[in-house]
Amino acid sequence: MDYKHYIAQHLVCEGISPESIEEALTVPPDTNMGDYALPCFKFAKALRKSPVLIAEQLRDGYVTDGVIAEVSAVNGYLNFKVDRAGLARDVLARVRSERERYGGSHMGEGKTICIDYSSVNIAKPFHIGHLSTTVLGGALYRIFRFLGYHTVGINHLGDYGTQFGKLIAAYKHWGNREEAEKGGIHAINDLYVRFNKEADEAMQAEAREYFRLIESGDKEANELFEWFKSLTLDYVKKIYDKLHVTFDSYAGERFYTDKMAPVIEELREKGLLKESNGAQIVDLEPYGMPPCLILRSDGASLYATRDLAAAIYRKKTYDFDKCLYVVAYQQNLHFRQVFKVLELMGKEWAKDLVHVAYGMVSLEDGAMSTREGKVVWLEEVLDRCVEKAYSVINEKNPSLQNKEEIAQTVGVGAVIFGALYNNKIKDIVFSYDKALNFDGETSVYVQYTCARASSVLNRARAEGTTWDAVQDVQPCVQEFELLKAIAEFPDTVLAAAKNYEPSYVARYCVDTAQKFNKFYFDCKILQAEDEETRAFRLALTEATLMTLSNALGLLGIGVPDQM
Ligand code: ARG
Repeated sequence: MDYKHYIAQHLVCEGISPESIEEALTVPPDTNMGDYALPCFKFAKALRKSPVLIAEQLRDGYVTDGVIAEVSAVNGYLNFKVDRAGLARDVLARVRSERERYGGSHMGEGKTICIDYSSVNIAKPFHIGHLSTTVLGGALYRIFRFLGYHTVGINHLGDYGTQFGKLIAAYKHWGNREEAEKGGIHAINDLYVRFNKEADEAMQAEAREYFRLIESGDKEANELFEWFKSLTLDYVKKIYDKLHVTFDSYAGERFYTDKMAPVIEELREKGLLKESNGAQIVDLEPYGMPPCLILRSDGASLYATRDLAAAIYRKKTYDFDKCLYVVAYQQNLHFRQVFKVLELMGKEWAKDLVHVAYGMVSLEDGAMSTREGKVVWLEEVLDRCVEKAYSVINEKNPSLQNKEEIAQTVGVGAVIFGALYNNKIKDIVFSYDKALNFDGETSVYVQYTCARASSVLNRARAEGTTWDAVQDVQPCVQEFELLKAIAEFPDTVLAAAKNYEPSYVARYCVDTAQKFNKFYFDCKILQAEDEETRAFRLALTEATLMTLSNALGLLGIGVPDQM
C-alpha cells in the first residue's frame, strides 16, 4: 500500500493537484503525531489562505475509512494516522492465504515474454563476463512468470562462425578424443587458444576448409562440431543448475542458417538492401547510425543477419508481447541497428523488442581479461565463494549440520546477489569479502535474517504454540514499519518487471531484513507481554520469512533454515 499516493488521491483540495500533494507529504519524526503529515504552508501562497486555515478545512473535508483512521490539524500541518490494526489484519491474511504466490499476480496472463539471455559461445570460456546476463535474465524470467506471463527463456548460442573451422583444424593436429572428453570445455578452449597462437598459413587454410565443410553439411566435420557443442553444453548446464536458471530453447545462431535467405529476400523486395564495396547493407545514415551489414562481399552472413532472422522467427513462433535481449551495453549499437532495420521492414512489433543492457563485472583482485589465458571462469568464482562461505559458516557455527549444503546456498547466493544488487547498467567490482559480510547489504545478511526468523518459529512450534487466530492488535512503530515493507512487496515486483531491474527486489530484501531485525531486537517475540501480542508477532515473523523467501527465490537464491 502506497499511503502517500492513497492520501493524495483522497484529499480533495481545489487548486492543488494530487501529484503536488503526494510530493509534499512527509513522514513526521515523531509518529505519535501521525504517520504522514502535509505541511500546508506550501500551499498558502497558491490558495491565498493561512496554513492553519488550510489544514483545518482539509481536515473537515477528509472522510476517514479503513485505511486512514484519523486526521488532525495542528499548527498548519495536516496529520494522518494510518489504521495500523487494519493494515496488520490485511497484510497477514494476504500473506497467509497466498504464501509462495505472495507478491505475484495474474496480470500477465495470456501474454508471452521471450527472454534471450546467457547466450553462451560454444567452445569458448564461460567466464565472469557472462554472470550478469545469466543471473539478470534468470531473475527477469522468474519475475515475469510470477506476474502470470508465459515466459520463454532462449539461449541464443554462439555456435556459428569460422572459429569452428579453426577448432577442428587444431583438434586434428594436436587433440585427441580422450583428452578432450576428460578436459571438456577447458581442453577445447586450450586447443582454440593454441591455434590462435601457433597456426601458420597452411593451418589457417585448413581451418577455412573445415568451416566450409561444416557449412556444406560434411558428416565428419558436423559430428565434430556437434561434439564440441555437447561438451560445452554439458559443462554450462551444470553451472545453470547451480544458479537455478533454465531455458526453454537453445536455438542458437546456427539454427538460423536456412532462415536468413527469406529475410534477405524481403529486404531486397522492400528496397532496403544496398550494395557497398561488394557487401550488402541497409543504410541507416538518416537515423544517425552506421550501416547494418547484412552480407559480406564473400556472401557470408553476419551476427546482425542472424539476429534479424531470429527476431522474425520468435515473433512467428511465440507471438511475444515483448522480446528482451539481456546483453552487455557494448552491443547497444548492434541492437539499435537490428531493431531499426526490422522497423524499416514494416514489422510493427519492432517496438516490442527491448535491449536490456547491463554493465561490466570485474573482480576486486585484478581486472578480468578475456585475452588468451587470462580468463576468469565463472565456475572458479562460484567455487571460491562457496569455499569462503564454508569457512565463514564453520567459524560462526561449527556445530551446524549440512554445512556443505548451506555453504553452497550461501556462496552461490552471494555471487548472484553481488551481480544483482546494483542498478544493472553500472559496472561492478565483485569482492568476496564484501559479498559474504553478514552485516552488509548482502544476500548473506538476508539469509541470516531468514534463519533467525525460522529459528524463532521453530522454537514456538516446538512449544506447541499456534498463531493463526490473530485478533485485532495495534502495531507499534517497529511492527508498523515491517508491515508496510511486507505490504510493498507486490509493488516492488511490479516495478522490477516494468523497469527490467531485479535490483529493486534485491534492495527490497535488504531493506525488509533491516526492518525485521529492528523489530526483532526492539520487541520481544517469544517473551511478549501477553498471548495476543505473542501470536501477532509470530504471525508477523512468519509473514516476513515468507516474503523474503519469495523475494530471494525470484533472484534464484535459496534460503537455508539454519545458518
Ligand atoms: N553470444 C553473444 C555474445 O556472447 C550474445 C548473444 C546475445 N543475443 C543475441 N540475440 N544477439 O556476445
